[in-house]
Amino acid sequence: MRLDRFIGHHTQQSKKAVRLLLAKRRVKVGGEVEVDGLREVTKFCRVELSEVTLQDRQGLYFMLHKPAGYLSATSDPSLPTVMDLMASQGGEQLHIGGRLDLDTTGLLLITNDGNWSRRITEPSVRKPKVYLVATADLITPEYGELFERGVYLDHEDLMIQPAQLEILESRLARLTIYEGRYRQVKRMFYRFKNRVVALHRESMGEIVLDPELSVGDCRALTKEEVECVWR
Ligand code: URA
Repeated sequence: MRLDRFIGHHTQQSKKAVRLLLAKRRVKVGGEVEVDGLREVTKFCRVELSEVTLQDRQGLYFMLHKPAGYLSATSDPSLPTVMDLMASQGGEQLHIGGRLDLDTTGLLLITNDGNWSRRITEPSVRKPKVYLVATADLITPEYGELFERGVYLDHEDLMIQPAQLEILESRLARLTIYEGRYRQVKRMFYRFKNRVVALHRESMGEIVLDPELSVGDCRALTKEEVECVWR
């Protein structure tokens, strides 16, 4: 929302009165004086008017090293969920930005900021998601050629955006995709009737799973990691 509208909405002041408050340097955003009423504010910006706080909600951003056997869900009646691993970190306000299957391991992003998580998962933004993929059968160069052309998903009636495959060993590859369709990686390999036996997400956009983070542990993202999503 625009800052001038935000202030009008929170204080019931007229547009003219709000313009005056801004001109008199009575408004602060994120601790800094702001005079531009057209500036956008999100629900996580701290906004003060004449030293009175109108809004101060903190954005929470975490990476979790997801273990296998934990569901990417906020709650489940029978299975442990990734939120069980986050218990001390902000509770029910949190949601997952880009789910992983029960048996998939690796980088999971968890936040209370819906705009931020949409930005990293939205296919049109084309943030790369990198996976290590181990398969039951041999991976041949044909796979990379098909993935680069784009795989058609008949269930959704859509083409997956071109993806890049790097074959590391006969049954191990690194795959970069730009969307997060339901079981996308497994379905791509299944085009060749090759079953994925282990899947691990290494990165999303510029955010890389911290090698210091043990399986099942989480940490807050750095300011740089949070902000890189908007570039
Ligand atoms: N693709 C899959 O098939 N599974 C995941 O968990 C993530 C991507």
